[in-house]
Amino acid sequence: MLSSPFIKVLILGDVVGPLGRQGVKKYLALHKEKDQFDFVIANGENATHGHGLSLDHYKELIADGVDCVTNGNHLFNSPDLFNHVEDFQYAIRPLNLDPGVPLKGSLIFTLNNGAKIRVSNVLGRVFIPMAQTNPFYAMDEVLKDDKEPIINLVDFHAEATAEKRIMAEYLDGRVTAVFGTHTHVQTNDPKILNKGTFFLTDVGMNGAYDSVLGDAKEGSMKRTITGMPATMEVFKKGKILVNGLILKISTVTGLVEEYQLVNEEFESDPK
Ligand SMILES: [Fe+2]
Ligand SMILES: [Fe+2]
Repeated sequence: MLSSPFIKVLILGDVVGPLGRQGVKKYLALHKEKDQFDFVIANGENATHGHGLSLDHYKELIADGVDCVTNGNHLFNSPDLFNHVEDFQYAIRPLNLDPGVPLKGSLIFTLNNGAKIRVSNVLGRVFIPMAQTNPFYAMDEVLKDDKEPIINLVDFHAEATAEKRIMAEYLDGRVTAVFGTHTHVQTNDPKILNKGTFFLTDVGMNGAYDSVLGDAKEGSMKRTITGMPATMEVFKKGKILVNGLILKISTVTGLVEEYQLVNEEFESDPK
């Protein structure tokens, strides 16, 4: 018998560079105990210099209180994953890649109160490279024999809003929640679908507030406006934006009972 009929899960959007990591640290220091989060997920694909996830930065996120780190299309910018895969115990990568790619695409976590949570990470195919197999069928494979756990959370790392909604509709009634990552922009469309699955198009970004998706404006603007190559750098100064999603989930039904977006700003530490 579970001691509590509910768990509270915090999901943090793509963590971009040093300011993103600082934002996660500050937010969790302030809220993790106070708001009684039972489980924390963060997308770490941009945690190291904006591209990839080093072992040190993975460990930093775990030490801050993240329980599961998801990834995305920047997975191959993370050489540590290939050299120290056994150290990334609580990290997952997109499911729909070659089976030889390090890490699993889906993991089950058991909480102290006995609740079991499956977290899956899957990659879209519209306006985003890298997926090797059909993301919808990849999710079918994961779910086909799942009697337990009843709490199923899906990080759909995708660009196109329609593809994200279609994944949520495809999994409606079969999983607890489908939330998007990758665009670095939080959407204001949280909702419960007809068969009970929670959906949010994109959780957003943790990173520099005064930036283009976490990058310094100069390089991004030059490359986009002129079409010429330009140095793209993560922006490391000024205010921090923290974007996330809080789900209160029934451990009896596996359904989201309450939800709330997180959209906070913090001052960065002086250098
Ligand atoms: Fe990202
Ligand atoms: Fe991405």
